[in-house]
Amino acid sequence: MSTTLEDLKPVPVELGGVRGGPDVRTLRRDRWWRNPTATVVFLTVVVVYLTWATFQNANYYVGQGMHRDLISPLYSPCVVGSCVSGARSLFDLGWWQITPALIALAIPGGFRLTCYYYRKAYYRGFWQSPPACGVSDGHTRYTGETRFPLVLQNLHRYFFVLALIQNVILTIDAVVAFRLPGGGGYGLTIGTLVLVVNAVFLWLYSLSCHACRHLSGGHVNRFSKHPVRYRLWKFVTPLNARHMQIAWASLAVVALADLYVRLVASGAFHDPKIF
Ligand code: FES
Repeated sequence: MSTTLEDLKPVPVELGGVRGGPDVRTLRRDRWWRNPTATVVFLTVVVVYLTWATFQNANYYVGQGMHRDLISPLYSPCVVGSCVSGARSLFDLGWWQITPALIALAIPGGFRLTCYYYRKAYYRGFWQSPPACGVSDGHTRYTGETRFPLVLQNLHRYFFVLALIQNVILTIDAVVAFRLPGGGGYGLTIGTLVLVVNAVFLWLYSLSCHACRHLSGGHVNRFSKHPVRYRLWKFVTPLNARHMQIAWASLAVVALADLYVRLVASGAFHDPKIF
């Protein structure tokens, strides 16, 4: 019986420590530290903002009183009893007492946290494991993603499927945002555009996911026998090549969409109507 990869026990890799001599961490002369530093700065700013916004539990919905129907992507779907009336979804978990954003963010949070690209970014930026190619690891031991908690990264493909449902919900939010309640009929406002752009970026992020590309074209020996999967694979492959850029952009757009709704809801300014 032949041995497969699954039969092999993972072997922890011992890194050799510093490279280029006992006191030299790397032989690289370029500014290799720029990318990990930019990652740390960007992720820290966005994560701090998103955490703050998550626990505000206010100003996440602009409703009939302002002739708008805008909900922050951080709070949708809003499924707890404390949700403001216009923002509430079809059902509510009456027993949930804290911010509804924690429920709404469970799936997208898990999806982003286990994303292949973000893993690379935060392993390099925060974990220093390793900080860059040709630069020694910040740790002496390396066990990959074979142990708890990092073995949970393998859940990414399931989060991908769940995130598609979340994308549908946020797309409905964007469509509903064309409604101008209170006698306004329908129209396009800056808030509508913000939610539409947010939904587009979320779909781009999901469709460019490595798990999506694998589902489209993986385990296929001959594309000629699977024309539909071939077309899907051809469609998502160019997106997949830009997954890093899309990951950054979509994260920034989510934060900006929340900020926009938050400012309008708090009365800082009125959401301008385009037509
Ligand atoms: S690899 Fe990034 S979302 Fe799947």
